[in-house]
Amino acid sequence: PQKIIIDTDPGQDDALAILLALGSPAEIEVLGIVAVGGNVPLTRTSRNVRTVLELAGRTDIPVYEGHAVPMLRPLATAEHVHGATGLDGAALPEPEMPIMHKHGVDFIIDTLRAEPADTVTLCTLGPLTDIAQAFRRAPDIIPRVKRVVSMGGAYFEVGNITPAAEFNIWVDPEAAKVVFGAGVPLTLVPLDVTHQALTTRERVQRFRDMGTRLGDAVAGWLDFFERFDTAKYGSDGGPLHDPCVIAWLIRPELFTGREINVEIEVQSELTRGMTVADWWRVSGRAPNALFLGGIDADGFYELLTERIATL
Ligand code: BDR
Ligand code: CA
Repeated sequence: PQKIIIDTDPGQDDALAILLALGSPAEIEVLGIVAVGGNVPLTRTSRNVRTVLELAGRTDIPVYEGHAVPMLRPLATAEHVHGATGLDGAALPEPEMPIMHKHGVDFIIDTLRAEPADTVTLCTLGPLTDIAQAFRRAPDIIPRVKRVVSMGGAYFEVGNITPAAEFNIWVDPEAAKVVFGAGVPLTLVPLDVTHQALTTRERVQRFRDMGTRLGDAVAGWLDFFERFDTAKYGSDGGPLHDPCVIAWLIRPELFTGREINVEIEVQSELTRGMTVADWWRVSGRAPNALFLGGIDADGFYELLTERIATL
């Protein structure tokens, strides 16, 4: 299996991404999970990671806390999307499993130094703060990273937090700039993909039909998440973002994309956090990312349902 570190800010869709990884042991080995401040503050994202692991019975996976705030800016959260807890939609007990004492960035650095080069993939489901800080503090790890796979950005679908920007990039654009400029293999899963992966009633019902505590929690989360997004986007269900990152690792053939240049806007107030994606390759700048554009949504939901049913 591919070794991964997940850096995340749960978030209902982050929770599903974690569950998809845990349900896919033949393809994915989760070395550890780092919570970062994002959708909700760090104390809650850290708690939510542990809630998800306990729900899945995987308290053997170490959980670390990364950065609470972006590199240069105050944290902007998204309770309006995810609810006050970040995981509204399912009533779950307070987690009891511990948080590791080591800082999440130290865990990332130490793991990349300890594992053979080119074997560890960093999966980011929130702002890129921890990855940027790890790259800045320990540049020796950059050539050891197999790939960074990130949910973030947008091109044709433009923004969900401002007209120009997607939430994860907008929260910490300076961090995104560091990661996009690091010269590391990078796959970007933008809104262009996730807005094709809609949580229709029928797809949500398949989780409820599992008749398990976990299936009920997933359906509850998606109902909560969908209610908001259906009103916002007027589509049949809301977009499901973060699990697409893990799905790409397991079944890349479900996706289409292009190797292109992507730069991050950090100056402009109006377009801060915009992923300036050279889809038509007009800039002459060298490609730095595999920018995904399409997804087989039915195949994706089949994978998600099948794997989560095993937990
Ligand atoms: C991203 O922002 C968060 O609200 C979601 O968890 C996802 O990672 C989508 O813009
Ligand atoms: Ca997220």
